[in-house]
Amino acid sequence: MNIGMEAIAFHTTQHFIELSDLAEARSIAPDKFTLGLGQHQMSIACPPEDTVHLAINAAKKALERFNVSPAEIGMLVVGTESGVDHSKPVAVYVHQALGLPSNCISYETKHACFGAMAAISAAGDWIISGRAKHRKALIIAADIANYALYSAAEPTQGAGAVAMVISDQPTLVSFDREIAGYFTNNVMDFWRPLYAKEALTDGHYSIECYLDALTHTLMDAKPALPKLSDLTACLYHVPFVKMATKAHQRHFECDQGLSLDKTSPAWQRFEQSYQAKTQPWLEYNARVGNIYTGSLFLSLMGLLVKGTLEPEQLISLFSYGSGSAAAFSLIRPMAGYQQFKSQIDPSQDLAQRTRLSISEYEDIMQQRNQLLTENDRIDPATWGLTAPYLYSGNQAHIRQYSDLL
Ligand code: CAA
Repeated sequence: MNIGMEAIAFHTTQHFIELSDLAEARSIAPDKFTLGLGQHQMSIACPPEDTVHLAINAAKKALERFNVSPAEIGMLVVGTESGVDHSKPVAVYVHQALGLPSNCISYETKHACFGAMAAISAAGDWIISGRAKHRKALIIAADIANYALYSAAEPTQGAGAVAMVISDQPTLVSFDREIAGYFTNNVMDFWRPLYAKEALTDGHYSIECYLDALTHTLMDAKPALPKLSDLTACLYHVPFVKMATKAHQRHFECDQGLSLDKTSPAWQRFEQSYQAKTQPWLEYNARVGNIYTGSLFLSLMGLLVKGTLEPEQLISLFSYGSGSAAAFSLIRPMAGYQQFKSQIDPSQDLAQRTRLSISEYEDIMQQRNQLLTENDRIDPATWGLTAPYLYSGNQAHIRQYSDLL
């Protein structure tokens, strides 16, 4: 049985900031953000845009653009670390908005940015087990990355959702079922206590933890782990683009059994490898920012839109969730996937966003973090929001999602 991805679509917010504007406002050299972190823009969520809204809109696009009927979905999982309720999952709001069947299993997964990869793995097992009875799984990675104003992490925010249909009739990529590497390690590299809206992070330590997890997943995937030269593309979790550069360097070092710096004879070979296998697929990440659970899959969209792949070529995926959990796995392009490039391409969503000044962005961030109840929500007209499925609430904190406009 061939299991893989039959649909993928992206949704982001209607506003963004330029990181060069943020750098100027913070009296930081713009090159630190654009070259040092590799980021150019950041999607900004204006309330009432929230994780549910992002998830519903990405999922609607995935089903509509790939002609998947809601009636075919038997499993719905939302991977997120920025849900809207301590108890009620994002998934159940999506279930209602999309009119999915009632005999559908639905839930939310959380392990920082690893939540959606965990859900994809569960979906694959559900299909292989036969319990799916040829129905399909809708997996959504949806998040709003939120750090404090003026913090070092501020330029690594973002917002967006990637929705994917997993089935036994893949049209885009198939999943390799033999080779995988896993790693779990309790570390305090990034966390968000229940009372906090903004994430806390020990930034430089988090980079070390990420790279350490990559090394361990590669070791765990041995002895079947393919050589780097056998991989056509290498995709990684992308909290910021430069992190993927660091990850590919670590992957290269593990593959070659060496430790690199810029004076090493092998440095040029590493750069060539990065430019061929990873860098070309990161443009959307550089324009959206960190979308936590969805960042890896946004770079997969970059590969599917911009790459020229042959069936059966090998692509590696590395998913990292702080705290921490990680997995290394392989996928292969399906013959004919190219015919879906225009359905996958998120360029239009990105082009339609409105640029905010830094003072507008700061107002939004302050308002967003002050919202205490659903009743405090901001009128969508404040920021000219037009997309459907924005929430309204009442005194009993009952959220309702509908096409308000
Ligand atoms: N021109 C060019 N480059 C410059 C520069 C300039 N003028 N000034 C600085 N730089 C470079 C630095 O050399 C550095 O590059 P290297 O890492 O290659 O050396 C880069 O810009 C960043 O500079 P700093 O390390 O000084 O930046 P910082 O300390 O202010 O913060 C950060 C960087 C730690 C990533 C911070 O943004 C942060 O904490 N982000 C959130 C945490 C995060 O994303 N961690 C990633 C791993 S954990 C994970 O992946 C899970 C997740 O999604 C959160």
